[in-house]
Formats: sequence, structure tokens, C-alpha cells
Amino acid sequence: MVASGGLYLGLESSCDDSAAAIVQVLPGQKAKVLSSVVIGQSVLHKEFGGVVPEVAARAHAERMDICVTDALAQAEKTLKDVDVIGVTSGPGLIGGVLSGVMSAKGLALGLGKPLIGVNHLAGHALTPRMTDQVGYPYLMLLASGGHCQFLIVKSAQEFHRLGGTIDDAPGEAFDKVARLLGLQQPGGPEVEKKAQGGDPNRFPFPRPLLDRPGCDLSFSGLKTAVLRARDSMLEDQGGLYDQDRSDFCASFQTAVADVLVEKSGRAVEQYLRLNPHNPTLAVAGGVAANSEIRRRLKQLAADLNLTFVAPPLKFCTDNAAMIAYAAAELDQLGVCHDMTLSARPRWPLDEKQSALLGSGKKGAKA
Ligand code: KG4
Ligand code: ZN
Repeated sequence: MVASGGLYLGLESSCDDSAAAIVQVLPGQKAKVLSSVVIGQSVLHKEFGGVVPEVAARAHAERMDICVTDALAQAEKTLKDVDVIGVTSGPGLIGGVLSGVMSAKGLALGLGKPLIGVNHLAGHALTPRMTDQVGYPYLMLLASGGHCQFLIVKSAQEFHRLGGTIDDAPGEAFDKVARLLGLQQPGGPEVEKKAQGGDPNRFPFPRPLLDRPGCDLSFSGLKTAVLRARDSMLEDQGGLYDQDRSDFCASFQTAVADVLVEKSGRAVEQYLRLNPHNPTLAVAGGVAANSEIRRRLKQLAADLNLTFVAPPLKFCTDNAAMIAYAAAELDQLGVCHDMTLSARPRWPLDEKQSALLGSGKKGAKA
């Protein structure tokens, strides 16, 4: 059943961003994001050097109402106008996910509106459809703080994983490297900033797993290599100069980009063998906000004659518009949940594939 006014309220609280959004989705038309409110929590977790699940869950519970009120106000809508409520029901930090699911259930019950639970990873994976109306199927590189995988996106409910990280997610590695260098969290944007003016060739960091066939990735050795190089420099010169930090960041970022580009090339080969008529490579997830990584992937796509789709930065990092949009697609497929909807800490998109070893900062789930 498709909601008549096509107005979807999305809620997101799976990690450290509380978010609500109103998206209008009508069949055959480009989705309209009427509002997308995100309240980040980096200040709350700053002194701990990482996301503290209990602190995150409490903050989501306190802020979700504010997000919803602001999202409605910015969209110039009221709760009565909303047709369907979509909420991230996994994977993620369970306290946060629960907090969002409980808010959504309360709203759905109180308003008598349908409720749809959305997989957070599906939200990221479907974003290129929301922003660019990309047709199925397409190849997606999803790279964020908790996950890294190559997916063939076939429908809002069908995803085929070609490969993924066997340990850390790349965003997690960016965050850890930032911590090693005394930069702020989240580390990705800070490392990117510092990398400007840095020498990408100064530190010959490894390009993990390039010697192995396939498109699985690994980032934990790279992070350890940065730690070793930093420690040896601390021993030699007693501290780091600003230029050293920039060189570390540039060398690390280039290593990540090299790995992502090489593995993307291999994923493209596998993808095109199965889908020769749909040569599209899309990216999403927080790491896809990195302009150097975007530039390199865009170049790869141009070299291989692929259409390249990279959503605007605000829809690459965690947001609720992608959840509202995914709920709309699920709605069109007839999906609807009730008060038994549960919050799932783990929820792989491709349930047929064996679990990857990778954990990511939100815990093992892919
Ligand atoms: O998708 P996202 O907002 O949340 C997760 O689902 O994980 O991604 C957040 C991750 C963080 O690890 C952050 O450091 C990284 O994405 N990130 C970046 C950049 N912006 C965010 N990594 C590299 N470069 C960036 N510009
Ligand atoms: Zn995410």
C-alpha cells in the first residue's frame, strides 16, 4: 500500500546522531527531502575518545522529540500530515536503536499511522535512489564508521554482498588515526583537513589484502602501521611537528583511497559480469564524504565508463532522510510492521552470505 500523501517521517538513532526527517515520495517522482534534522553527540563522547553506548542511548531518548518537532516545523507539516513512520530498527548500538524504535512506536500508536522498521545499511544503500533516482540494479560501495561492503543493490529488500571488511571499518580507522595524532573526533573530517598540505608519499603504509583475490578489505593493519610510525617518530624527535601530522594524515588517507579504488575495480568486474547493462557505481556512508576518496573513485568510474553517483555529503553521513526514503520504498513493496517490531544489534543486509569477521565500532553485525 502506498501512503496517499506520500509523506514519510524517518527516525535514526543507531550510533551517535539523533535524527528525524520528512521526505515526500510519490510513485514515479523524484523524492523531496522536506527537512532533515541531525543532532550529533560528538561533544558528549569527546572526553571518552569514542562513542559510549549508554551515554548515546540516553541522549537519543532526550533528543528525539526535539528532532521530530524541528523536522516537522522545517517541513511546514504537522504530525497529522505524516502518512507513515519509518525508523532504524538495526543494526547499531542496541540502546540507541531501542530508543528510536520506542519513539516511533509511540508515535505510530498515538497517531494510528503505519510503522516500518528500516535496516540502517539499507538506508545508506538506497540513498542514491533518493538523491539521483538511480535505477536497479547498481553497485554500491558502503563505507562508514561501522561498515564497509560492496553490494549489488537489486531492490529495497534484495542485496548481494560481493565483499567487505574482515576487521575494522575505514571510518573507524580514520577515527583511530585521528586519536593517535591528537586530533578531534569524529576523526574522518579532521584527518581530511590535516591531510591538505601533507606529503602522501612520506610514510609507505601498507595496502592490506591487495595480494589476495576478491574484494574483501582490511584496515586494522594500516592503523597499526600508523601507530608504529608515530611511536618511532616520538622516540626519535620527542614529539610531532604540525607538518608530521599532515604527512601522517595524507599518507594514511592515500593508502585508504588506494585500497578502496583497487578493490572497487575488482568489485566492478564481478558486478559487470552479472549486470553488464547497468554500469553504475554508487557510494554512501560517512567515508564517502571524503573528497579525496570521492575524487579517486570518480576517476576510476570514468576510466571504466561507469556512471558514478555520490550523494551530497549530508546524505552520506548518518541522517534520517535516508530512513524515511527507505521506508517509502518498503511501503511500496507492502511492508508494514506492528508493535512487535524489535531492535536488532546485528542485521546483515545479505542474510544468505556468511558473516564477515569485521566488527566496526558498532559491534559485529555484517
Ligand atoms: O555513516 P556514518 O555517519 O556513521 C556510521 O554509520 O558509521 O559514518 C561515520 C564515519 C566516522 O567514522 C567518520 O570519521 C567518517 O565516517 N567520516 C569520514 C569523513 N567524514 C566522516 N571519513 C573520512 N573522511 C571524511 N571526510
Ligand atoms: Zn551509517
